Amino acid sequence: MYDKIVVIGSLNYDVCLKLERLPEEGETNFADSVEYCSGGKGANQAVQAAKLGLPVYMAGCIGEDASGDFLKKTVEGYGVRTDYLKRVPGNSGMSVAQSLYDGGIRASVVRGANDKVTREDVDALADMIDPHTIVVFQLEIPLDTIFYAIGLCRERGAYIILNGAPAAEVPEETLKKLDLFIVNEVEASFYGGTQIDSVEKAEEEILKMSQRLGISCIFTLGKAGSVVCSGGKTEMIPSKKVQAVESTGAGDSFIGGLCYAIVKEMDLFEACRFATCCSAKTVCKTGGQPAMPTLSEVMEIYGGQH
Ligand SMILES: Nc1ncnc2c1ncn2[C@@H]1O[C@H](COP(=O)(O)OP(=O)(O)O)[C@@H](O)[C@H]1O
Ligand SMILES: [Mg+2]
Repeated sequence: MYDKIVVIGSLNYDVCLKLERLPEEGETNFADSVEYCSGGKGANQAVQAAKLGLPVYMAGCIGEDASGDFLKKTVEGYGVRTDYLKRVPGNSGMSVAQSLYDGGIRASVVRGANDKVTREDVDALADMIDPHTIVVFQLEIPLDTIFYAIGLCRERGAYIILNGAPAAEVPEETLKKLDLFIVNEVEASFYGGTQIDSVEKAEEEILKMSQRLGISCIFTLGKAGSVVCSGGKTEMIPSKKVQAVESTGAGDSFIGGLCYAIVKEMDLFEACRFATCCSAKTVCKTGGQPAMPTLSEVMEIYGGQH
C-alpha cells in the first residue's frame, strides 16, 4: 500500500558539551568533552525509518558550510535519499547543548538553513507525493511551509503524519487534514490546553482530541509508554523494561518505527507496539541517530506480527 517515506523537516548539527557545572555569569569554564552529532527531528526520524530498511527521502535545507557536508554525508550513510535536500547560503541548523553529569541539560538551537525551506521547495517534490507515500512533518521548519505542504499532501492523497514538536500554534483546519498527530506529554498538554500528568488523563484527552479532529492521535509518555486513539478506540501501550542510558531521540525513533509498521500494514495499535520496541532500543545507547536500531535489532525484542 505505502512504498516510500518522505520527511519534510529539519537537520541540525548538534554540539554536545559534557561538564561538571554551568559557568557563572561572566565566567568561562572548561568542559570535559565535546561530541558532534547529526540531529534535528526531521533527520532523526528519516534515519530511523531508513535503518529499518524503508526507502526514505529527506527534504529540507542545509547550509553551504562544513556542517552541511557532514549532515548530508551522515544521513546518506544511513541510507536516506537526499535528492530533495537543498543547499542554501549561510549556516546549517545547529544546536549547542551543555550536558551535566547529573542529567541536567541546557541547549540552544540556531534555526539556520532550516528556516529557509519554502513553498517552492515543496512544489519541487510534489510529483513524488501520491497515495502510496507517507509524509512526515515536525515543527522545526517554517510553519507556513508546513501548512502549505500538508494541504498539498492531502490533495495528493498521501498518508500524513505530523509530530507537533516543538509545540506551536497549528490551525485546527490543518490538524484535521492529518491522518496521524503524534506528540509527547508536554506537547499534548499544550495542544489539549490541560496538564497531562497521568495515564488516565492522557487517555481522556486523547479521545477528545481524536474525536474533535477526526484523526488518529498518539501521545508518548516517556518511560510510561504511550496512548493511541484511532477509530474511537483508545489503548495504552506500556514501554519496554530496559536499562535506559539516555533518552535522546526516543520520540524520533518511535516515529521512524511507526512508519515502518504502517508500511507493513500493521494497524495503529500494533504499529505502536513495534515503535515502542524501536524507542526501547534507542534509549539503551547514547546519542540519537547512532543509537537507533536496525530491523534485526528491533526483532530481538518485538514479538508481534511483521
Ligand atoms: N526510559 C525508557 N525506557 C523504555 N522506553 C522508553 C524510555 N523513555 C522513552 N521510551 C519510549 O520512547 C517513547 C517516546 O519517548 P518520549 O520521551 O515520550 O518522546 P520524546 O523524545 O518526544 O519526549 C515512549 O513512548 C516509550 O515507548
Ligand atoms: Mg520525553
